[in-house]
Amino acid sequence: MKWLSKISVVTAMATALSSAPVAFATGAHAATTRYEVESAPAVCSGVVASNHSGHSGSGFCDTPNAVGSAVQFTVNMPVAGTATLGIRYANGTTANRPADVSVNGSVVQPGFGFEGTGAWNAWATKSLPVHLNAGTNTVRLAATTAGGLANIDYLDVTTDDGNSTIMQGADVSTLQRAVDLGARYYYANGTPGDPLDILKSAGVNYVRLRIWNNPRSGYNNKDKVLQYARTVKAKGLKLMVDFHYSDTWADPGVQTKPAAWAGHGISQLQTDVYNYTYEVCTSLKAQGTTPDSVQIGNEINTGMLWPDGQVANNDFTNLGLLLKAGYNATKACNSSTQVIIHTARVESGARWFYDGIRAQGVQWDITALSYYCYWHGSLSSMAAVVSDMRSRYGKPVILAETAYPFTTANFDHSGNIITSSQPCSGYPATPAGQQANFAAVQNTARNAGASGIFYWEPTWYAVPGNGWNPADINNSGNAWENQAIFDQNGRINPNIRWLP
Ligand code: GCU
Repeated sequence: MKWLSKISVVTAMATALSSAPVAFATGAHAATTRYEVESAPAVCSGVVASNHSGHSGSGFCDTPNAVGSAVQFTVNMPVAGTATLGIRYANGTTANRPADVSVNGSVVQPGFGFEGTGAWNAWATKSLPVHLNAGTNTVRLAATTAGGLANIDYLDVTTDDGNSTIMQGADVSTLQRAVDLGARYYYANGTPGDPLDILKSAGVNYVRLRIWNNPRSGYNNKDKVLQYARTVKAKGLKLMVDFHYSDTWADPGVQTKPAAWAGHGISQLQTDVYNYTYEVCTSLKAQGTTPDSVQIGNEINTGMLWPDGQVANNDFTNLGLLLKAGYNATKACNSSTQVIIHTARVESGARWFYDGIRAQGVQWDITALSYYCYWHGSLSSMAAVVSDMRSRYGKPVILAETAYPFTTANFDHSGNIITSSQPCSGYPATPAGQQANFAAVQNTARNAGASGIFYWEPTWYAVPGNGWNPADINNSGNAWENQAIFDQNGRINPNIRWLP
């Protein structure tokens, strides 16, 4: 979160299922259901033909050669999740016959190519991952050129077995203090509950905790993270530790060294990063709460541990040294802990940054981006960056932070960071708007290939004494409470879900 960079603003303000779908296993964690185009409720806006051999079932769909020619399938899903569409087709011409692929009325892949297969009896399959809802979904192909659609034989839908490897995350770094102060949390029906249990019931499977070296608040430090990690792991949740390498907020606008390292140069700072990362990780491991992943730095758009680790004049040398120290320390602690490099570079410069560290020989396991629609641009530009990062570096991509307001109301003496009644077009600052925005962010990111999405501080409703400033936690107030998913009475937004 761009916390300090936004604080000046705050301060200023303070002042239908196929008739006979066939299911068959395709692997240990996968199942495929086949939807034949000739079986209702599938719709072929042409004729079901059988004059070319090799098709499955009793025929295939042959539509008029025109823009808009379509086939539509009704796909039923037991649970929401990512599914891979496998579309079997033949195109006996040499020209591509692209189609818009829509899921539930939204185009998820414009102009998806159905290239020539060499002959009308030569069948091929095109694959596309999409996000599907629980229950009935419509999947539609509509031709975008005058050549119309290829001949379409069937749609295969392959899903996993429910053991989601998707990181369905929540950064609940302020929750430990909230609970210590007596904050209560409630299910949508008003029943009180443990906040982590309530989050789990909404789909959370992964918790992210930030760690500061020596914050004056006495929270979010090594001791407190060790303590809370036990609570998190006891709930069966996975754990990500987000190293800020600072005594306070580190973000694109500020990366202040911890006071204890203030006089250290780049050589000592490498040792500092290595030792501190190793010490925290091995302490977690020793108590049986090994982190599943760690972030080496937080929103390090132009480096960390400034000025030594700051990227200046396109020189990534020092940042590369620090990131390698963090990677090596993590792997020395536990080789299967995933190392995440996190920036807020959806807006611009993602390739510049990750190319820059890659050229230094930095290794990492997951590429992570912050995405707040009111700061970082449209959903479609986010999707383009997620997809580009994934293919360019060949690593899983996650959104390590996102959030959206459910109200414009302010519940304490500290003004909110986001005050607009419609911070992003189409999504009012209401409980329904918050739910819809989070669903859209997840769907868009997942359809672009993301492996996880973390909501930032869903449990941080305004509790006196749980302020934003670690140097004055008692009095500094909360500028985020309208972006929590729990309202000021501690009740969860009823329709919020983390999607598997
Ligand atoms: C041929 C072929 C059809 C096909 C059509 C087309 O007529 O036999 O199966 O659909 O070309 O160009 O779409």
